[in-house]
Amino acid sequence: MRTSAAVSCGQDIAGNGCFSLGMISAFEGPLKNHGAWFYPRLYWECGAIGQVPYLQAEVSKIRSTGIGCFFDDPVHQIFGIEDMSYQSLYHFTVGGPVEDTRLTTSPAY
Ligand SMILES: Cc1cc2nc3c(=O)[nH]c(=O)nc-3n(C[C@H](O)[C@H](O)[C@H](O)COP(=O)(O)O)c2cc1C
Repeated sequence: MRTSAAVSCGQDIAGNGCFSLGMISAFEGPLKNHGAWFYPRLYWECGAIGQVPYLQAEVSKIRSTGIGCFFDDPVHQIFGIEDMSYQSLYHFTVGGPVEDTRLTTSPAY
């Protein structure tokens, strides 16, 4: 729990839920093979994958959200990544929502 929050810029939202995850992508190889344009493409893929926890959490009556603020170096250390072969690109957290009463929420549809 503490590790999840710590690698996510100290955000409670990453440590107090059911689980959080990091999307770790093959990095140096794909960039060398396909060129620089593949860098944003990797993020595009992370975003597409991220739609799954968003939707799955909603149908499970909980919530999830993308975590864009995280420290990649400690994440790499935890997973034993010591070179550019893999890179943590996007994180996600899943859990029960905490209502922020300072905000007004309208139904989406
Ligand atoms: C790519 C991405 C990164 C995000 N990173 C964070 C984050 O690091 N911390 C956080 O609390 N929320 C994060 N969020 C969630 C957004 O802050 C959240 O979607 C927004 O507050 C929802 O506002 P809304 O309810 O007005 O749509 C992220 C969302 C996305 C799509």
